[in-house]
Amino acid sequence: MARWWNQTGGLGYHFIAWSQRRSWQSFRAQLNDILTQEVPLTPRLVIIGASGGYTLCSSWLQKFPSLEVIDPDPLAPGFFRRQHPKIKVRWSRQNYLVHQGGTWNWQGLDQLHSQYPDATFLFANLIGQLPLVIKTPALDNPENWRQWRECWWKFFAQTQWISIHDLFSAAQPPTHVSALQIGGVCAEEFVQGLYGAQATEVTDHLTYDLFPTSVRRHRLLWPLTRERCHVVEVALPAQAGK
Ligand SMILES: C[S@@+](CC[C@H](N)C(=O)[O-])C[C@H]1O[C@@H](n2cnc3c(N)ncnc32)[C@H](O)[C@@H]1O
Repeated sequence: MARWWNQTGGLGYHFIAWSQRRSWQSFRAQLNDILTQEVPLTPRLVIIGASGGYTLCSSWLQKFPSLEVIDPDPLAPGFFRRQHPKIKVRWSRQNYLVHQGGTWNWQGLDQLHSQYPDATFLFANLIGQLPLVIKTPALDNPENWRQWRECWWKFFAQTQWISIHDLFSAAQPPTHVSALQIGGVCAEEFVQGLYGAQATEVTDHLTYDLFPTSVRRHRLLWPLTRERCHVVEVALPAQAGK
């Protein structure tokens, strides 16, 4: 598949971002309040899965003296420049995480860490997309998923990081928004709390239990399109300063 058209971004995503820019304003503002208040400023930020940076604010990005951006989408740098004309970034199109054939690169996170040893890593709405992309070993096999989680935990323990990721998505927004911050003991309970008895088909992005229980979490609704609403989580290490 051409890189400018992929399941997690590419041309389709740029079009959605442009056409939905007004309906994303509230999500963007809430997200950037969290980033501004909770993410410690470090000399170098590495954004993985930046695309055009449509959900990020220039005012927050410009606080970092050095910005590196990683996204294999060849259209992303042009759209990012348009969205953030005053922000200087260095681009890399290297795909650290997924091999060409769609398999997970088990060494990818270590490679990322050794390439940028002193950086803070921002996974910008990427981790919840990976289950759509990774073909073998499929993450809906619980054993493969557990190994995948171990790989992330090792990375989380060694680095400064933040992740913005999809938890669930559905054709309708949740009916019980108050359940967003409460959570549930398991994914099923959380989904039940959000959607109640509503007969809604919910896509599980396999991230609900991915992060250590100690992390700080904020949950937001992202009206991706009129037909699709995502429940998004911002997770960051408990010890991250303010
Ligand atoms: C949902 S979009 C990100 C949204 C973006 N952060 C924003 O603010 O608009 C996901 C992005 O991840 C990128 N992506 C997919 N696989 C990736 C990988 N292995 N490494 C880095 N980026 C990847 C896609 O090309 C796509 O641009």
